[in-house]
Amino acid sequence: MTDADSSGPQNQRPDRFLVFSASLRDDSLNGRLSRLAAATIEANGGMVELRGMRDFDGPSYDADVQAEEGFPSGAESLRDSLQQSDAFVISSPEYNFSIPGALKNSIDWVSRFSPQPLNEKHGLLMSASPSMAGGNRGLWALRVPFEHLGARLYPDMFSLAQAHQAFDAEGRIASPQLQARFESNVVNFMDQVEASKHYPCIKRAWVEYLGEDPDPAFDRVE
Ligand SMILES: Cc1cc2nc3c(=O)[nH]c(=O)nc-3n(C[C@H](O)[C@H](O)[C@H](O)COP(=O)(O)O)c2cc1C
Repeated sequence: MTDADSSGPQNQRPDRFLVFSASLRDDSLNGRLSRLAAATIEANGGMVELRGMRDFDGPSYDADVQAEEGFPSGAESLRDSLQQSDAFVISSPEYNFSIPGALKNSIDWVSRFSPQPLNEKHGLLMSASPSMAGGNRGLWALRVPFEHLGARLYPDMFSLAQAHQAFDAEGRIASPQLQARFESNVVNFMDQVEASKHYPCIKRAWVEYLGEDPDPAFDRVE
């Protein structure tokens, strides 16, 4: 076998996934779902960095603080973890039909790094809630800043309804049908990450705000 023959994806390092729950609390339902996602990724050959929102949390974004003190350590940690990963998976609570403030604040901080680490990064969004909607409305709100920042969000999202009674003793989803759907959502996302990484067809994209003339004063996603 030549060197060229051995360069297929089966001979490269596994794809790396940053997985974290966007809840700050210890007994988080989203923490449980993020651990199940991490286990599913590892069972299917991926490498996982499992983190929690406390690792990335920090003071409210303030441009004066950024100018005088630089970035808080939580924002630097999230930037580093994103840069070291091929893709991310977030399990986020829904707060008042929308994004938890701590997660939005972290997104705002990392959006100020250059290069901006969410650009062209693949992402899968999931949620868990005691409600019947499973936090799904919050995920639609969460897509907006991520898509603006150039993240390649997977179209399918997983929302676990009545999550306070949905897990079994092993941390899996008790309903076999829902567990199977969860696994296929995660594995299909992994397939897309692998295809994009190893068989890229679009090398670069240039995105700028529609209707604005190019000007250094405008923020861009490059
Ligand atoms: C400020 C606040 C707002 C909430 N708003 C919603 C909501 O809009 N929809 C929903 O399904 N649950 C809502 N909840 C309930 C959360 O889904 C529930 O607390 C859940 O357990 C939070 O996720 P965690 O367990 O991962 O911390 C809200 C909770 C809080 C504290």
